[in-house]
Amino acid sequence: MIDTHCHLETLTNIDEVVNKMGNNKMITAGTDLESNKKVLELTKKYPNVYGVIGYHPEFADNIKYEDLEFLEQHINDEKIVGIGEIGLDYYYSKENKEKQIELFKKQIKLAKKYNKTIVIHSREALEDTYNILKEEDIKDLKVVMHCYSGSKEMALRFKEFNMKFGIGGVVTFKNASKLKEVVKCLDLEDLLLETDTPYLTPEPYRGKINEPYNIIYVAKEIAKIKEIKLEKVLKETTDNAISQFDLT
Ligand code: NI
Repeated sequence: MIDTHCHLETLTNIDEVVNKMGNNKMITAGTDLESNKKVLELTKKYPNVYGVIGYHPEFADNIKYEDLEFLEQHINDEKIVGIGEIGLDYYYSKENKEKQIELFKKQIKLAKKYNKTIVIHSREALEDTYNILKEEDIKDLKVVMHCYSGSKEMALRFKEFNMKFGIGGVVTFKNASKLKEVVKCLDLEDLLLETDTPYLTPEPYRGKINEPYNIIYVAKEIAKIKEIKLEKVLKETTDNAISQFDLT
């Protein structure tokens, strides 16, 4: 199994949680310059840790030219498998939409230039996200929609892109009927497992600090919803992650 989205640098027990994953891989995601530097360090330190680097929309007001330069300088580093997490967050702020959009587009252009997978964060902004992907003409690009929270209708529209959907702990929550519907209607080949560690811890550990190993509970819930074997979920979502991030 592969945790396709976590923020390992936020943890105090990184050695422990990484070792617990054994040979299973995880992809840790940057959000700002500091965390991107940590991502580079962690991918060098642990054989089973891969990384994506990028600038989260929350920081759109503060990203400088040098920060984007740093991204471009390291985009082809060993074990850096994409640009993320990038996107739009209108829940966090609607005041700086234009800046968020500009930063998102700049990073998409960089991904196109180096043919890198993009990992999208989109909160209360799915319509604008869709329009930007369309406008930027990303048909050759591999896309991951991290922590997808939209409707099944919207998910089907997004399938016109080469997109896979990151499913995390939320799917195990009792009140997550919308996401359970999404999982049911998408094919297994559209899905990736993720934790978003340290956030969104699945049941039965909801409320505690999350860790990559907990994707097993996400996989179990997907197996239950789709009425298939857990082994099949683990095998196919692993294959999906390998192909979407060109993991070796
Ligand atoms: Ni995240």
